[in-house]
Amino acid sequence: MFKHELIEKNATLLLVGSLIVVTIGGIVEIAPLFYLNSTIEKVAGMRPYTPLELKGREIYMREGCYNCHSQMIRPLRDEVERYGHYSLAAESMYDHPFQWGSKRTGPDLARVGGRYSDEWHVAHLTDPEALVPETVMPEYGFLSENELDYKLIEDTLKTNRLVGVPYTDAQISNAKMDLETQAELDGDNLDGFKERYKKASARDWDNNPNRISEMDALVAYLQMLGTLVDFDLYDANANRR
Ligand code: HEC
Repeated sequence: MFKHELIEKNATLLLVGSLIVVTIGGIVEIAPLFYLNSTIEKVAGMRPYTPLELKGREIYMREGCYNCHSQMIRPLRDEVERYGHYSLAAESMYDHPFQWGSKRTGPDLARVGGRYSDEWHVAHLTDPEALVPETVMPEYGFLSENELDYKLIEDTLKTNRLVGVPYTDAQISNAKMDLETQAELDGDNLDGFKERYKKASARDWDNNPNRISEMDALVAYLQMLGTLVDFDLYDANANRR
């Protein structure tokens, strides 16, 4: 009782005491993380982005889509009922930087892949108001006019590998060809491409077969979002444990 009074009446002592307590608490919480190989649970199905998806992701960031869209479904009932299974840490493990976002002027996009057709995405991105009259989303039709610049795609993959994305040598050396294959400019390499990127589909995303536009890349990226993990399998495993 007496000793407690001493601390309460002496601000410096209280401060030093608090610091010691916070330091011990911090060490207990943080130190174990250094002894774990990974704090992210491995989940079957996750793979690095294909070169075309990676370019689409760059356009998503360049255009600031994250200012209005999040990519993280929280484990709350209303979110799960609207958007699907809540997001797993593993689903953004290859994101540099992550696109969780903090603003939802528009809906969450973490599982938008496969929800609409490619035609819908192109029409919506070109003129959102034509499909949703009350929308405030800007028009991005110019993406169809812009030819995709993928000269440096090999280096982009290498840079991602540098920060931990496990791209193989084959994925890096074939990056340009894989990009063209996925946009259907070059069909000879399809088997190799599918081998290197599971569950990736190759098609003419923007309905203009003659060239690869920024629209191709963005739609390929959107159509992949949230489709890699098979949640029937994931939940079955989780229940067995
Ligand atoms: C100013 C805010 C704003 C920006 C910036 C914006 N959006 Fe949207 N977006 C919205 C709103 C609001 C909606 C809901 C109405 C609609 O469908 O247009 C929406 C809807 C969408 C949808 C349909 C989602 C669904 O589940 O129905 C997609 C896909 C989408 N946006 C993609 C994008 C992409 C890609 C970009 C960047 C190129 C982008 N948005 C930029 C506001 C925005």
